Amino acid sequence: MDLLLISLTTIIIAAFMQNLRRRRSNIPPGPPTRFLIGNLHQLKPLWTQSFSEWSHTYGPIISVWLGSQLAVVVSSSDLAKQVLRDKDYQLCNRHRTARMTQNGSDLIWSDYGAHYVKMRKLCTLELFSLKSIECFRLMREMEVSSMVKSVFNDLMTDDQKPVVLRNYLGSVALNIVSRLVIGKTFEPKEGREFKSIVDRETRLPGATKMLDYTIWLKRVSSWFTSDNAFMKHMARKRKWFKRAVMDEVYGGRDQKCFVQSLLELKEKNELTEETVMGLVWNMLTAGADTTAITIEWAMAEMVRCPTVQEKVQHELDSVVGFGRLMSDTDIPKLPYLQCILKEALRLHPPTPLMLPHKASESVQIGGYRVPKGATVYVNVQAIARDPANWSNPDEFRPERFLVEETDVKGQDFRVLPFGSGRRVCPAAQLSLNMMTLALGNLLHCFSWTSSTPREHIDMTEKPGLVCYMKTPLQALASSRLPQELYLLTFH
Ligand code: HEM
Ligand SMILES: *[C@@H]1O[C@H](CO)[C@@H](O)[C@H](O)[C@H]1NC(C)=O
Ligand SMILES: *[C@@H]1O[C@H](CO)[C@@H](O)[C@H](O)[C@H]1NC(C)=O
Repeated sequence: MDLLLISLTTIIIAAFMQNLRRRRSNIPPGPPTRFLIGNLHQLKPLWTQSFSEWSHTYGPIISVWLGSQLAVVVSSSDLAKQVLRDKDYQLCNRHRTARMTQNGSDLIWSDYGAHYVKMRKLCTLELFSLKSIECFRLMREMEVSSMVKSVFNDLMTDDQKPVVLRNYLGSVALNIVSRLVIGKTFEPKEGREFKSIVDRETRLPGATKMLDYTIWLKRVSSWFTSDNAFMKHMARKRKWFKRAVMDEVYGGRDQKCFVQSLLELKEKNELTEETVMGLVWNMLTAGADTTAITIEWAMAEMVRCPTVQEKVQHELDSVVGFGRLMSDTDIPKLPYLQCILKEALRLHPPTPLMLPHKASESVQIGGYRVPKGATVYVNVQAIARDPANWSNPDEFRPERFLVEETDVKGQDFRVLPFGSGRRVCPAAQLSLNMMTLALGNLLHCFSWTSSTPREHIDMTEKPGLVCYMKTPLQALASSRLPQELYLLTFH
């Protein structure tokens, strides 16, 4: 009985103190918290949904306690500007767990400082510059045309069978990124092992898991999962990396790829092996899913909006015609196609909360104090649907971008699929090119209809940092171009 009483009073006092601390410290308002778990018990699997609901109640900047970790979520373009532009310098690091992230010697997890600036410059120069994008143009076109060909071949076998687009998009995206980064595509076995390692990585405690947010739970969980699991995982990852990437990298290649440039620098002792692996891993994991997901969402909208689909096909027919496939150089002449992609990125940003940032020191945002150590989320999905800045925000209407030329690469704070500021996605231009090319070819080569009534297409999101469609899109395709075009081989 005594014990119960003591624990009860402790809980009450602790809750009271937490409340007091919150009021004193002028941190942003937020939903009431529970002792130790904060708001975890109320948080829906789709975090964006909970964050948006709370923002309606408490305003565009809120505090959410993920256990003992304070997260500040901003959901308006003005506050995003403060986070990503005005206070960018204080807010541009990330929380990381040393074990999973090469101690931050890579790019994504590196703290902003001399090492980061050097890595960022290197990646921009070697991988994301306009020159590099141009250099790899043919390679992208080859991969996309081979995707079209394989869709076509599958239709030849059975044209009543719905196409599960995700299967094709996942491989074309991974192929393009891996050829860019390591100069080759993975063999099926290497590809499967890669996926399995990535999958395992997100499941290991100490990755970006819920448990991680509650310091006390993290301790408990670490009692059960020894360092052994990590060691084993890292060994497997290194082995894969050595086999699939390093062993072949010195072989003859037509074009110099990113990892070769990295290795030259490693030989000059400017980079460590950890960094080389970290950078390659960053690009493979950040680049493939995001682009595939965006195209899948865009295609779902195309199936739902036949008038939009017809309109873009009309544009493609008049610019590209019926005698060849669309190429990268057509992109500037296809404004409506570009608008469709922008609209897809507005409504379905693949990272709806970007990658979280961290307050390296205490800063003022929107009149509130964001204390040092807080995690800062920018709800770019909510911002891009803010009725204050968009008319009929929930409607898929690419025309809105025709009327008003709008940047989606971080200049316009109403739509920030790639983030903005120091940490903005360095691959924004590259991925726009990749996605426009793939989307354009899918729409030029085939007409797409739904196998179920259009209203029944499941547009719900799967929970996660990266936002997949919950149900993979299935659509019926029929070819639109003369048969010989699909059978041309580049390889
Ligand atoms: C639809 C495609 C993509 C979207 C929407 C996207 C979005 C983002 C976002 C929101 C961030 C975080 C920005 C921040 O923290 O403020 C980011 C970072 C990053 N992205 Fe992308 N990305 C895409 C494609 C790619 C591709 C294709 C690559 C590489 C080949 C890539 C590589 C990276 C890297 C390395 C970072 C970390 C940058 C840093 O921390 O300095 N992304 N991306
Ligand atoms: C990270 O740093 C710690 C201490 O500096 C070191 O013991 C550990 O081996 C490093 N881990 C990696 C993956 O580099
Ligand atoms: C979005 O709308 C708000 C409220 O009308 C306005 O203050 C803000 O400047 C707009 N943002 C942009 C980037 O236009």
